[in-house]
Amino acid sequence: MKYLVANWKANKNLNEALIWIDVFNNLLKKNKKVEEKLRNDKLKIIICPSYHLIYPVSEKLINIPNITLGAQDVSFFEKGSYTGEVSASTLVGLAEFVIIGHSERRRYFKETNAIIDQKIKLAKQYRIEPILCVRDKKDLSSEVEIVAYEPVNAIGSGNNEDANNVLQMKQSLHLDPDIKFLYGGSTNEENAASYIKTGQIDGFLVGTASKDPHSFYNTVQASL
Ligand code: PGA
Repeated sequence: MKYLVANWKANKNLNEALIWIDVFNNLLKKNKKVEEKLRNDKLKIIICPSYHLIYPVSEKLINIPNITLGAQDVSFFEKGSYTGEVSASTLVGLAEFVIIGHSERRRYFKETNAIIDQKIKLAKQYRIEPILCVRDKKDLSSEVEIVAYEPVNAIGSGNNEDANNVLQMKQSLHLDPDIKFLYGGSTNEENAASYIKTGQIDGFLVGTASKDPHSFYNTVQASL
């Protein structure tokens, strides 16, 4: 199973998000190969918009298995009087996955491994699958099923990390063989295949190339 995660970050208003989905749905309808992979559990597409767009996007999404929604973060509080927070308990039924520990959260919001571990615990408690982002070995603080290696210099820079270096990092993480290992950092339709052909990378966390539905779709195709 390949995992293609679209991380929209703090981009797209409602209208832009709905247009994205329309275009993406049309691309899917045109190409049966992608649909086949989704139906055969060979591919999972996880779209991660801002919280408030999760529901409207899910309503418009084409009804094919293995295309689903994720959140980009989650509160480290379970529920209660925490104005402005979005807790795992309130994401039930909306998000199947959640990105946790993205380097932008660690950098701009000063998230520590202790905070991230608490978020992972709550996500699991509410059966939302965490996608733990790590910049290196020391960020791998909790047990999760999906790990995304995202070297900071590769994110949003156009300088994707060489596949060999990604594999080296994977080795040093000593992951259980059944853990899904994703790469993130300037992935696009041109470079995706270089990772996939190693046979050791289970998919991508895609930022910039997920902003446009065509480039995301092409990245998906290049990852099959
Ligand atoms: P990028 O972002 O594809 O723009 O490098 C990846 C990410 O931050 O998850």
